[in-house]
This record gives sequence, C-alpha cells and structure tokens, in this order.
Amino acid sequence: MGTAQNVLEVEQLETVFDTPRGPVAAVRDLSLTVGRGEIVGLVGESGSGKSVTGLSIMGLLDRPGRVAAGRILLGGEDLRAASAARLRQLRGNRMAMVFQDPMMTLNPVLRIDTQMIEAVTAHDPGISRRAARERCRDALGMVGIPSPDERLTAYPHQFSGGMRQRVTIAIAMLNQPDLIIADEPTTALDVTIQAQILSEMQNLCRERGTALIWITHDLTVVAGLTDRIYVMYAGSVVEQGPVDDILDTPRHPYTHGLIGSIPSANIPGQRLYQIPGMTPPIDRMPRGCRFRPRCPNAQPLCQEPVALREIGAGRQLRCNFPMPSQDTP
Ligand SMILES: Nc1ncnc2c1ncn2[C@@H]1O[C@H](COP(=O)(O)OP(=O)(O)OP(=O)(O)O)[C@@H](O)[C@H]1O
Ligand SMILES: [Mg+2]
Repeated sequence: MGTAQNVLEVEQLETVFDTPRGPVAAVRDLSLTVGRGEIVGLVGESGSGKSVTGLSIMGLLDRPGRVAAGRILLGGEDLRAASAARLRQLRGNRMAMVFQDPMMTLNPVLRIDTQMIEAVTAHDPGISRRAARERCRDALGMVGIPSPDERLTAYPHQFSGGMRQRVTIAIAMLNQPDLIIADEPTTALDVTIQAQILSEMQNLCRERGTALIWITHDLTVVAGLTDRIYVMYAGSVVEQGPVDDILDTPRHPYTHGLIGSIPSANIPGQRLYQIPGMTPPIDRMPRGCRFRPRCPNAQPLCQEPVALREIGAGRQLRCNFPMPSQDTP
C-alpha cells in the first residue's frame, strides 16, 4: 500500500452508528484502493454497507454515523484529518458523488445553468461567466444531453429521469475530479438507458483518467463495466479481485451464491439458486465469519474471526473453506 499511483487508499475503515446501546459497526475492516482511471465495483446485497462506505470516504456521513477507525487517503491526503472546510473544497473538485436519487444533488427550484455555473465558480472563482457557461454546456453535451445550450436554462423537473441523472453525472465531472463515487445511479432507470449511461461514463473516465467506484447490488452491471470488484457482505469485504476472474471462479460461498442467482448465468428453465436466510442486522452480527449462518461450507472454525488473505493474481478472500478453484459445471 501507499503507492503514488493510487487516487484513493482506504485502510481498515470502520464506520459505526451510535445507538442508545452503544456504537454498532456498519462497516468493518474495509480496505480498498483505486488507481488513476481505474473503474472499481463495490457489490453486495442491500444493507451490506456500500452507501455507508461511499459516504464515509466523501465525508458526508450524518450523525449518528461516524468513522471510528482507519485511514482514508485521497491522492495521499489524509481525509480523516481534513477540516470540514477542506472537505467541502475537495468535494466537487477532486472527488464527487453521484447518488441514486438525482434530487439529492439538484435543487428543484433553480435552473440547471444556475446550479452548474455555481458548481464551477465555487472551485474556480477567477473564471469568467461566459467560460463557466461553456464548460457547463460542454459537460451536458458530453453525457449525451441533446441541445445542451437550450437545456441549460431548464429546471430539473423538465428532464426525464434518465436525463436528470445525466445532469448529475455532468455536475460530478464538471471540475474533472480525480475520483467519482457513483452510488447505484442507474438502478431506478430502465435497462437500455442504464447500459447507455454506464458505457458513456466508462468512456469518459477512461479518457480523462478519472477513477470511478461504481456501487451496485447487481453483479451483471459490474461485469462489463469494471476492472476489479470488491464483494461486500455485512459490512466487510469478503472477496476482491479482477472482475472476470471472480465471475468465472468465485471462491467465497457468498459470491458463489450471488452469481448462482443471476438469471443469465444459468441454464434457461432451471430454478435460480437463492442464498438461504437473510443478511443479519448490524447490531446482531454473528461471531466470526458473518456469513456463517447462511453458508453451506461453514465449520466450527468459522466462529473465530476470519482475516482477508491473498489467494494470488491480485485476489483476496475472507474464507476458511472456499469454493473449489476449478468449478466443474
Ligand atoms: N442513519 C443510520 N442509522 C443507523 N443505521 C444505519 C444508518 N444508515 C445506515 N445504517 C445501517 O448501516 C448498514 C449499511 O447500510 P447501507 O445503506 O450502507 O447499505 P447498502 O449496502 O448501501 O444497501 P442498499 O443496497 O439497500 O443501498 C445497514 O444495516 C443500515 O441499516
Ligand atoms: Mg445503498
């Protein structure tokens, strides 16, 4: 760890929610790195801690949530030591987040140009109004919004859901940040529009060297889009590595189950696999491996804490009894 090439390095992040009965960890022992221009997927079921991880990195976590341990380095700068003012400066400039609901970003009563120009001038006070406007128009054009000059004067409600989400992506990219965290930005959209937006965003990030963390519960989405994935379960990474490797040969029983439940990965007509049971609530996590109560391979040893370990070729795994490395279909 600690190479200059990494845009983001997260080491052993722990994020807790303070409750009347004490702090409970929503994210634990989470380490991840994203290189320049790299596209990384953060995948897991609902409640696995994906959004909490993204918000922790961006410094956007609200009470009662707080980062309790770990390091978050953006271009080597320690974000946990940064002041609120410094974080505001970094957000929208060096790092940006795209939310599932575009109205988390957009103000419904302001025209798009007002909002976008403000986003430019906030980080570039010397820029002329005309240059700022041009940058906004170009950004809209870049994310596939037709007639961007006219659309600039529209209000958020005058855009379709897909177009509105494109506007927030354009805003995230306005100041050419080093890192964008996209938290399921396309799950509310129909499948064709999802695919379009994904591939456009992939191209833009590749061209500009922007690092992208794409958060999703849908493994089929990350298959075509990402370089590497981190699979999260109950607040921790259980498996990580190159996306094709993991999809071909998942080693963690949880990843294996997730892949088995994808329709396209199965023979038509065959019943889809469903992982038995449910994700435990964060205040009732099982001891040791948190997947243990649902795991077909679990043994008594799994009641002890399980560390993430290297299993070669850039892969890491948190499991005592993994699935075989050569899957026989
Ligand atoms: N404000 C909060 N107070 C208490 N617990 C919270 C709060 N926000 C999130 N949590 C808990 O933290 C855990 C992780 O939540 P998170 O929103 O990160 O999940 P997620 O993986 O993004 O799920 P989804 O796919 O549904 O968006 C969940 O168990 C959730 O209940
Ligand atoms: Mg979420």
